[in-house]
Amino acid sequence: MNWTPNSWRDFPILQQPTYNDASALSDVCEKLGEFPPLVFSDEVECLKQNLAEVAAGKAFILQGGDCAESFQEFSENHVQSMVKVMLQMAVTLTFAGRCPVVKIGRMAGQFAKPRSADSEEIDGVSLPSFRGDSVNGIEFTADAREPDPDRMLQSYHQSAATMNLVRALTRGGFASLKNVKEWNSAAVEDTALGKKYGDITSRIHDSLEFMEACGINVDDFSKLQGATIYTSHEALLLEYEQALLSQDNGKWYDLSAHMLWIGERTRQLDHAHVEFLRGVENPIGVKVGPTADPDEIAKLAELLNPDNTPGKLIFITRVGADGAYEKLLNLFQKMASKNQNVIWICDPMHGNTVKASSGYKTRKFDDVMSEVKAFFKAHKAVGTWPGGVHLEMTGKDVTECTGGAFNVSDNQLGDCYETQCDPRLNATQSLELAFLIAEELKG
Ligand code: TRP
Ligand code: MN
Repeated sequence: MNWTPNSWRDFPILQQPTYNDASALSDVCEKLGEFPPLVFSDEVECLKQNLAEVAAGKAFILQGGDCAESFQEFSENHVQSMVKVMLQMAVTLTFAGRCPVVKIGRMAGQFAKPRSADSEEIDGVSLPSFRGDSVNGIEFTADAREPDPDRMLQSYHQSAATMNLVRALTRGGFASLKNVKEWNSAAVEDTALGKKYGDITSRIHDSLEFMEACGINVDDFSKLQGATIYTSHEALLLEYEQALLSQDNGKWYDLSAHMLWIGERTRQLDHAHVEFLRGVENPIGVKVGPTADPDEIAKLAELLNPDNTPGKLIFITRVGADGAYEKLLNLFQKMASKNQNVIWICDPMHGNTVKASSGYKTRKFDDVMSEVKAFFKAHKAVGTWPGGVHLEMTGKDVTECTGGAFNVSDNQLGDCYETQCDPRLNATQSLELAFLIAEELKG
């Protein structure tokens, strides 16, 4: 049972690229190992403390971002609009739901994707599948699809630049509660949803002015001046993750992000991903699909959190709207009898992907909402805490998911379909979902 940074190499591993140049790969990993960490171990410990509050039923997790970040879609505007929509959703949940919110971006490192097949065939030509920008290119040419280890260096640098902007935007000023109006997007402003958000912003504004009138200088309170957005991604490429390991006070941290998760396709008890992540101090998420066996989930909890530390382990359920209540009820009930400290959060995206008649991969807003509702209802029935949500979303005005307040239809999907991977909620749909979740939280 001895863990070392290399022990995962003795286990079977799925979803890895095949690099044809082993020495190029080891050169890249060596370089990455010398680069500064992207996050710091004391920040990881802070997140664990915040998550212990969630485990105690006193706070809620908002985790969200792109399905996959891309080298192409990288700009100040892209990062800033994501930060804006996260702040807007978080403040809505905090204010309307009266609950502290732990904010975790699916960003600054979310570049690798598991795929259902190793290769893709078009018109009789078979090439390796696209596995995310940190592995290969999305274009269907032999050149682009060849896995290139140098891409991990580019992911690292883009993550560092993203992190830099996230830190600057959240430290103070932009994320101050005094700026709550500024996080609104143009698409939302003049709509009924915009008015609802406007109501929250004026009430926060009034509260701050009232405190000032009472002689409390709001600027003295750093908690009102800024907010922390932690980072997370799927820890899929173990070469990359191992290169960013760091030892602190005798403990190992994976400093590529604050939180890391294991996908539904790579969470086998006796495989490399579980082996690697059981050795690090970071909080770990595990995706849990509709066919998960509760006994296996309990064994994962033992392996990944042997000390039963509250806030260390997050199960991210993604069962699909159809029959969600019964599936979740069964899982929560069986797990509740085991006395393991786990946080449950709801990913209402990945079980609800469908192909529209137009050919686009999409998700219906109503299905997303109905899985969230089933998640809350099942927790209520079992007496466990609905710990949060995990969303694929963007601050931009895209048309990738159907429905919502502006009722995006199947034949509008082509208007602004930009995702490299799965369909994301746009800025309006994200805020609308935040209001609906706030209702559930209050109830
Ligand atoms: N710091 C507090 C928090 O993160 C309050 C806060 C400041 C806040 N700016 C925010 C909350 C932006 C949500 C969004 O909860
Ligand atoms: Mn996805």
